[in-house]
Amino acid sequence: AGLNTAAVAKGLLYFGSATDNPELTDSAYLTQLSNRDDFGQITPGNSQKWDATEPTQNTFSFTKGDVIADLASTNGQKLRCHNLVWHSQLPSWVSSGTWTNATLIAAMKNHITNVVTHYKGKCYAWDVVNEALNEDGSYRSSIFYTTIGEAYLPIAFAAAAAADPSVKLYYNDYNIESPGSKSTGAQKIVKLVQSYGAKIDGVGLQAHFIVGSTPSKSAQTTNLAAFTALGVEVAYTELDIRMTLPSTAALLAQQSTDYQDTVAACVANAKCVGVTIWDYTDKYSWVPSTFSGQGAACPWDDNLVKKPAYTGILNAL
Ligand code: XIL
Repeated sequence: AGLNTAAVAKGLLYFGSATDNPELTDSAYLTQLSNRDDFGQITPGNSQKWDATEPTQNTFSFTKGDVIADLASTNGQKLRCHNLVWHSQLPSWVSSGTWTNATLIAAMKNHITNVVTHYKGKCYAWDVVNEALNEDGSYRSSIFYTTIGEAYLPIAFAAAAAADPSVKLYYNDYNIESPGSKSTGAQKIVKLVQSYGAKIDGVGLQAHFIVGSTPSKSAQTTNLAAFTALGVEVAYTELDIRMTLPSTAALLAQQSTDYQDTVAACVANAKCVGVTIWDYTDKYSWVPSTFSGQGAACPWDDNLVKKPAYTGILNAL
């Protein structure tokens, strides 16, 4: 069995991958991405972000996002929709605009309402708010936080729920995969949204890890339980495990163990619904362009050949 088939047999809803529009012209890449034995879910890596969907205020552009949504539909794959409110990849009219509390709330609600309505019925889940936290668990000073305060989070979730009552609504962040200040901060966000009476269904753990310093299975299991105790589901949403290049056999073996531990933590929690890798091949990974000197973070190599990490994932399933 492939990754998705094995994941579903273990009780997960899916095993999936991120993808992005430019890669879809690579036919070998597209064939493997579309193989539902390995991938039962895809996430657009960029094309649903605010800069792509509303580049000018109240002018919406869904062309690129629709290509990924249509691909999921054609392939019979679930779609994780990503994301609605994030400090990064914002159009300048948002990030450099002159805002008051009332005008930014109105612009944010309008964005959420239009994008969620467009994709209504097509997404398994929306990442409603992405990366709202600093490493110490305090709020990141984004335009949303500095203008609106923490209420922007429940306001965003309520707007998303109003536009599509059926889609799962997630808070998504990185470095919340083991117990600590930032994970505690994410738990506070769940409670905050709930305290406003707004719907929050899940927490997405990005899981951008480093070979050899990936949190242990037990740390991850304990951490997932702290979220699911709040009444929400969890998912690993952007898993990749990078290394300092060049890759060696020893690093690839450790990477395989690290992937296995992470997927095993999800399997061990009945409310962990799935695992998404942040693209399946090193050929299109975001890692080398973001972390200088690092790479080889995915389970398939540059030539679309499976690495030991593939077997590590299967071992957990
Ligand atoms: C990344 C994309 O993969 C890149 O192509 C883009 O240049 C930057 O964003 N956390 C997230 C994702 O939530 O949206 C980011 O995706 C990776 C980190």
